[in-house]
Amino acid sequence: VRETTLPGTDVFTSAIGLGTAELYRLPCAADRRRILAAALDAGVHHFDTAPMYGLGVAEHELGRFARGRRDRVVLATKFGVATSAVGRALGHVQGPVRRLFNAAPSLRDRARRSAVGPGAGSAGSLLYVDTGYDVPAARRSLETSLRALETDYVDLFMLHEPRPGDVRSADIRAWLEHARDAGMVRAWGVAGEPGPVARVADDLGPSAIRQVREDAFLRSGTPRDTRPRVTFGALGRAMPRLVGLLGTDSRPELRWADLGLDPDDHDGLARLLLRDALAANPAGVLLLGTTDAGHVRSAVEVAAADPCASAPAVGVLTTTLAGAGRRRN
Ligand SMILES: NC(=O)c1ccc[n+]([C@@H]2O[C@H](COP(=O)([O-])OP(=O)(O)OC[C@H]3O[C@@H](n4cnc5c(N)ncnc54)[C@H](OP(=O)(O)O)[C@@H]3O)[C@@H](O)[C@H]2O)c1
Repeated sequence: VRETTLPGTDVFTSAIGLGTAELYRLPCAADRRRILAAALDAGVHHFDTAPMYGLGVAEHELGRFARGRRDRVVLATKFGVATSAVGRALGHVQGPVRRLFNAAPSLRDRARRSAVGPGAGSAGSLLYVDTGYDVPAARRSLETSLRALETDYVDLFMLHEPRPGDVRSADIRAWLEHARDAGMVRAWGVAGEPGPVARVADDLGPSAIRQVREDAFLRSGTPRDTRPRVTFGALGRAMPRLVGLLGTDSRPELRWADLGLDPDDHDGLARLLLRDALAANPAGVLLLGTTDAGHVRSAVEVAAADPCASAPAVGVLTTTLAGAGRRRN
């Protein structure tokens, strides 16, 4: 996998990172560990986690995985949102909860929609708590994450989904710089949706690494950010939307054949979207969420391939989406 350095830091990492949130669709810890191992074997050594992922379990499992190989992994975590006591209790019975969700996908989808964070519905406020972005909260969260990750430093420490009014920039910037100078974090930044991240990161200054949601649809409607950044969400929402677009005969803008793909070749479609995301952020990092080791390998192959190979199909995709975006506006 191509390697890159996070801008303004000495954090050298892989251009593909593995997100640990989706792993918790797998009920069994051994299967989650297999995906982590498959990623590392394939050359991915950037791992993104957070105190809220896996209902508080994700950091611990990643820490266990990193045991004995700390110098080979780049660990990114966040602060500002944590798992509540109820969420943590459920996290310990991860297997039965996930098996129930897998047996009843509509229940899982409802839970997912209402539980993306403390501000999201009744399940969200039951499972997660806002811990805030002030200095004591950041310090406590870092100490807890270091224990869970079984390490004495994290490579990237980010404010998790802050809103601009939530952050006292000068205080938290000074503390994050202190944490970096003390060797507890190697780089710091802001993670979340592009609008709030841009506003909070602008206030925090040039040292802040930006980790933002970005996909082909979002990019088609917004001005391009050319700075190297960490991106996530290339597939999660864009894949079903694109499949819907391709499946509608009455919308002739885009057909599977235009993209050089057989109908229902979802892996091929994912590869195109990943190619497009890598091309839009050539010196940055692209996070992937998956429960499938084969899909890790697809992403790694895309990152290693000649960018010109799939350029025509990516061109068709972006031109079509940009056209659709212009018609919407
Ligand atoms: N605020 C933040 O900083 C923030 C917010 C959200 C997410 N994240 C991070 O980003 C990570 C990734 O999340 P995301 O939203 O960016 O996920 P994503 O990669 O956009 O999408 C994940 C989905 O794509 C599917 N997929 C992956 N490869 C595929 C392939 N080759 N063919 C078909 N389907 C494929 C996966 O299904 P399979 O399981 O079948 O592969 C999964 O359903 C998270 O784990 C988390 O670490 C950060």
